Amino acid sequence: MKLQDKVALIIGGSSGLGRASAESCAAEGARVVIADINERGAEEALAGIRAAGGTGIFVHTDATDDDAVKAAVDATVREYGKIDILVNSAGGRHANDAAGWHRAIDMYLKAPYYGCRHAIPEMEKTGGGSIINIASLSGVTGSMAKTPEGTGYPAAKHGVIGITKTLAIANGKKNIRVNAICPGYIKTELTRSLFEAADGGEQLINETLKVPMNRWGEAHEIGTVAAFLASDDASFITGQSIIVDGGFMAR
Ligand SMILES: NC(=O)c1ccc[n+]([C@@H]2O[C@H](COP(=O)([O-])OP(=O)(O)OC[C@H]3O[C@@H](n4cnc5c(N)ncnc54)[C@H](O)[C@@H]3O)[C@@H](O)[C@H]2O)c1
Repeated sequence: MKLQDKVALIIGGSSGLGRASAESCAAEGARVVIADINERGAEEALAGIRAAGGTGIFVHTDATDDDAVKAAVDATVREYGKIDILVNSAGGRHANDAAGWHRAIDMYLKAPYYGCRHAIPEMEKTGGGSIINIASLSGVTGSMAKTPEGTGYPAAKHGVIGITKTLAIANGKKNIRVNAICPGYIKTELTRSLFEAADGGEQLINETLKVPMNRWGEAHEIGTVAAFLASDDASFITGQSIIVDGGFMAR
């Protein structure tokens, strides 16, 4: 159990990559707090975690609201006494219009900033911690957006990598590690319309994108990386953006 006695706050943990991160952290012994707007998804995730012998609670949280994120951090400390691990994984659809640009910045740049700013002082109190920001390949390369209004997502994802590196440098001496994961194409609610295409999204993966491993990624393949980064196995890794994409970026 690599996360025995650790406490993990997973923002956006009711579904997809956040849920998989919560499950992987819990499987390694961490007590988890799922902070999300989706209570039903969180309760399903927590039921599975408890059935497997783990512990966790849900805190209703809008990740785009600074005060709400602070309240989730406070609730975590109130319930479990500290916070060792923060995973920022909230996500949702946004339109490719002017309002959608701002929505993408709120969800994918401001939300992880709120998480970091409120969790770091708590981690400092207990002598360290590990923050994992779920970024994207759109954080390290341009996306397929065709208009200025479509650049909100890649702008936010590049930005969160800037936050990750900067906070890693600022907090290294405090033993707070800050890393990002850049997932490729992973089956979650966010990508459901793509992999539920008539061919199961095979043409997208095999022919359009030419993903070397020739398949979609599964959420647990990100969750296990989050748990690794949270653990002492990654004790000298900070400021990194770990690409987990079946080889896509290696081409
Ligand atoms: N799935 C992929 O292929 C992929 C690839 C690259 C990056 N990502 C990133 O992974 C992260 C998670 O996405 P996912 O694929 O797991 O999607 P998902 O839809 O399965 O999960 C997103 C979670 O965020 C929650 N959420 C939405 N709005 C929220 C809000 N305002 N406050 C709190 N929680 C909120 C949802 O309820 C859900 O539980 C996102 O940042 C996304 O950009 C996903």
